[in-house]
Amino acid sequence: MAKIIVVTSGKGGVGKTTSTAAIGAGLAMRGKKTVIIDFDVGLRNLDMIMGCERRVVFDFINVIQGDAKLKQALIKDRRLDNLSILPTSQTRDKDALTRDGVEKVLKELRDEYDYIICDSPAGIERGAHMAMYFADEAVVVTNPEVSSVRDSDRVLGLLSSKSRRAEKGEEPVKPHLLLTRYDPARVAKGEMMKVEDILEILSIPLLGIVPESPAVLKASNLGTPVTLDANSNAGKAYVDAVSRLMGEQIEVRVLPPERRGLFQRLLGRPA
Ligand SMILES: Nc1ncnc2c1ncn2[C@@H]1O[C@H](COP(=O)(O)OP(=O)(O)OP(=O)(O)O)[C@@H](O)[C@H]1O
Ligand SMILES: [Mg+2]
Repeated sequence: MAKIIVVTSGKGGVGKTTSTAAIGAGLAMRGKKTVIIDFDVGLRNLDMIMGCERRVVFDFINVIQGDAKLKQALIKDRRLDNLSILPTSQTRDKDALTRDGVEKVLKELRDEYDYIICDSPAGIERGAHMAMYFADEAVVVTNPEVSSVRDSDRVLGLLSSKSRRAEKGEEPVKPHLLLTRYDPARVAKGEMMKVEDILEILSIPLLGIVPESPAVLKASNLGTPVTLDANSNAGKAYVDAVSRLMGEQIEVRVLPPERRGLFQRLLGRPA
């Protein structure tokens, strides 16, 4: 039976969709049958980051509304056999995402997959609530800045009060902290928050630290999860995070950000 993991944050633009694609790909690379679901109705970014936007015929909302079968909406990744994507719709009607509908779809997926990864929209409204409600575990994506940490803290509160597990009095949703866009040089200058300070405020286990990396933008422009770019430090950080998500004990590394300065670019030297 699949584990349901929500990738959430509260704050927008911190790297949820990037992380959903990267973690989904990483799990599939490790032989786990994985499906990634886009809960960001209206924006619909996950299929773009996965490079399958032209293959979308039916979506999550069509399935919920009974206009398509789940099998018709699922897109099999062409690079990774074990990975499927359930894209969402660009409709402006956010109410289309109903709790009963979501539950029905998750129930159907649960028997077939090892992991179901839910890409949450920003904020703490309906879409974010739907993405987290049925979760067993949560990856709380946080940038090393005060506003992001504060929003992650609010999301942790919601996970422990407004999830199905909380309402049923079951074991709570297991949270993991994924720090993204981390830049040790800016931390040293006091422009960004230190890992230890963030851990002290949020006090949840650290899943990984993904450095600020141009490889992320490159991967998203190519429609490839960054995990497939094994040479990039962001890709390596996601590979490590996936191992930890699977329960392996590996030390957290702070990989340096990759930057290609103007001179390096002019001289054509690798970063
Ligand atoms: N480690 C990273 N290094 C550099 N850029 C990054 C990194 N992670 C994410 N980004 C960039 O940050 C932007 C936001 O990323 P993404 O879309 O994954 O965030 P999000 O949390 O899903 O946003 P939203 O809240 O709008 O759904 C993108 O342009 C992405 O390329
Ligand atoms: Mg997103």
